[in-house]
Amino acid sequence: MNPDPLLAWRKEFSILAKTTYLISHSLGAMPRRTADALQEFASVWSSRGIRAWEEGWWEMPVTAGNLIGAIIGAGPGDVVMHQNVSICQSIVTSCFDWNGPRNKLVTDGLNFSSNDYIYYGLERQGARICRVSSPDGATLPLELMLDSIDEQTQLVSVSHVAFRSSFVQDLAAITNRAHEMGALVIADLYQSAGVLPVNVRDLGLDFGTGGSVKWLCGGPGAGYLYVRPDLRPRLRPAVTGWMAHCRPFEFEPGPIDYASDAFRFLNGTPGIPALYAARSGYEIVNQIGVDAIRAKSLRQTQRLIELADEAGFPVHSCRDPQMRGGVVVVDVPNAKEVARELARREVLVDFRPNAGIRIAPHFYTADDELDRVMSEIRSIARLSQ
Ligand SMILES: Cc1ncc(COP(=O)(O)O)c(C=O)c1O
Repeated sequence: MNPDPLLAWRKEFSILAKTTYLISHSLGAMPRRTADALQEFASVWSSRGIRAWEEGWWEMPVTAGNLIGAIIGAGPGDVVMHQNVSICQSIVTSCFDWNGPRNKLVTDGLNFSSNDYIYYGLERQGARICRVSSPDGATLPLELMLDSIDEQTQLVSVSHVAFRSSFVQDLAAITNRAHEMGALVIADLYQSAGVLPVNVRDLGLDFGTGGSVKWLCGGPGAGYLYVRPDLRPRLRPAVTGWMAHCRPFEFEPGPIDYASDAFRFLNGTPGIPALYAARSGYEIVNQIGVDAIRAKSLRQTQRLIELADEAGFPVHSCRDPQMRGGVVVVDVPNAKEVARELARREVLVDFRPNAGIRIAPHFYTADDELDRVMSEIRSIARLSQ
């Protein structure tokens, strides 16, 4: 068999030397160069002081966003950085009037919990939330989503890859339908960007959100927001702040006069250290290319499914590669305890109630680590019988 060229990246991730790291859907491994980037932040702050703002910090929500833009197919200047998805979703939903006749928000039943909490909070402003339930808790037939979108729909929220089951939704079909009905689409790309090809411009997506903690290996504190650039003039986020003003340093009182570029979607002082930390992961993903990551991920997730089948463990992820994200969910008895014992044995995976053990190979995973996780699970399951 051909050697796997992506294994050359293993030395960039020190944790891999002693840990079988199969949890990149939750917290991607830290690149070595991230320590240098954080040191750089400290040096810039200590040596340049306040001048650091005009020497790069002020623009950083956009310059760091450009690295994400290259991963998700956005144009330069079209992605801004925030702390997390929850704030990005709050900014987007605050752009709409939920009191008029077009007050319906359609959300898929596999969406991340935070997003739902934000949507239901809009009910007090008049929004009608239509949550499209998943019949099995893992998948969502496309027709159910399409049928829920109508002329009263203002916004459709879709999780591109469901966090619990790694089920892939058809963003193109949902976006087309929403646009036909005059609605806009916000996609949560957290579980897809960096492991599945995504192109927001080809899809015609209106908004995209995600973060750095998982497949992008960027660590906590850096979430991103893409807004279709031609929509900007008609969007007036109520969740805002002085950085979104077109003359921020005038500190004008009264209502905001929005910036016309993507700064319009910023608010207060950005989390600069997190942006320093996040960039190395984005650079590595860009350097490898998501197509190569996806090809490897499909091969390794397929192998995990075969190993689970051999062991007789039910698999809760889609077997159809088109519908499968980067995670394989394996239902094993006492999954919580098994995950804990695996961690004790230096094999990191996680567990979600009503799903099972989530196993996520990434570009740095070696094939023998797949065999290792499954044989450890088998041995733990046997011991606990
Ligand atoms: C699909 C998805 N969206 C959002 C989040 C997290 O959101 P936040 O960045 O607000 O913590 C997660 C994390 O588990 C997720 O899987």
